[in-house]
Amino acid sequence: MVRGPEPAPVSPERFAALWCSLAPIGRAGSDGGYLRYTWSPADLAAREWFVEEALDRDLTVETDRNGNLTAWWGDPAAGDAVLTGSHLDSVPHGGGYDGALGVVSGLLAVDALRSDAGGVAPPRAIGVAVFVEEEGARFGVPCLGTRLLTGAVEPQTALALRDADGVSFAEAMAAAELDPTGVGPDPAALARLGAFVELHIEQGRALVDLAAPVGVAQGIWPHGRWRLEITGEANHAGTTRLVDRRDPMVTCAHLVLGANQQARERGAQATVGRLAVTPNATNAVPAGVTAWLDARAADEPALRALVDAVAAQTLEQAGRDGTGVEFTEESLSPAVVFDPGLRERLRELLDAPVLATAAGHDAGVLAAHVPTAMLFVRNPTGVSHSPAEHASDVDCALGVEALARTLRDLAWR
Ligand code: GLV
Ligand code: MN
Ligand code: MN
Repeated sequence: MVRGPEPAPVSPERFAALWCSLAPIGRAGSDGGYLRYTWSPADLAAREWFVEEALDRDLTVETDRNGNLTAWWGDPAAGDAVLTGSHLDSVPHGGGYDGALGVVSGLLAVDALRSDAGGVAPPRAIGVAVFVEEEGARFGVPCLGTRLLTGAVEPQTALALRDADGVSFAEAMAAAELDPTGVGPDPAALARLGAFVELHIEQGRALVDLAAPVGVAQGIWPHGRWRLEITGEANHAGTTRLVDRRDPMVTCAHLVLGANQQARERGAQATVGRLAVTPNATNAVPAGVTAWLDARAADEPALRALVDAVAAQTLEQAGRDGTGVEFTEESLSPAVVFDPGLRERLRELLDAPVLATAAGHDAGVLAAHVPTAMLFVRNPTGVSHSPAEHASDVDCALGVEALARTLRDLAWR
């Protein structure tokens, strides 16, 4: 038997109206991409937008010890609460939908349920969360808010992480008027949760190929980030003979090509998307290159084998180049299989296809602690982490409807 209020239909115009109130915040530069780094003025403005929207709806806003925000409809202390939401931070020049779509959809799904609920809160509270530093774009470690909440990262490790300007997580949090001394796991907050469902834009083209607006996630590939400090000798670009050079950029070039080749051969993914070059001069052999490797594979042994092969190749090349390489693991996210019972329930409820993904999400971290599911909304180009990321208002409205039906199913079960 279906219980709970009948969610009101959500029009594309209704979606667009709320979407357009958030969209300008943190949109930077002429490419239309976003710069919403954690605790930056743009991120704080987006968080403020969320708090105002939540208070306008008479939701109760809670900021946890790690800075994660949740807007509650009903009292989560009653237990078995149903949480949705996502994140508002972005990668550098990222798209607007990654993260934000899940937050906007959560608020609109609550609206859709409330309009028929006659002011009566659900038997299990529904919360819409905004998690901190999901992308790891500022401090390097993704899903930091949920890692801290669940104890997957040590508080001292997180607080000491530094951004590209040398500002620590602790300093940035304090500057955002939040107390960094309290960060850490919160088992009591987690114990209140009966389910977490994150809605997210799809970051590939699977739903396009399946001609479906909404999908249900199967699981997440294991993935991680490694930092390579490659050191050489700064010297003159014109007068230093090639045989006399110790050029870290040459070693780095082999890293990039080697990672690509190894990933291709193994059906995995490897990317070097970020470099810092010292001193970064056109007419000087660099003294050093810092490179970040992002690697992902279908299972953990495959991921480890990929990274080991790339490391071995790079070290071998460094031997030829006379350079040094130091390899540091910055983060590792294990394989995730979402709760099979919840996944099946949503697949049937929504008549939606099931997809695997190689993208990381807070849902992946929470899945180890709470029955968790994800919904994906079709992305016509499949492009993500780029200003070209897009979903139509029509599909986004269908996503909200799917989320509202999901929340009803869970909260009035
Ligand atoms: C997060 O978006 C990731 O997969 O890197
Ligand atoms: Mn992302
Ligand atoms: Mn995301």
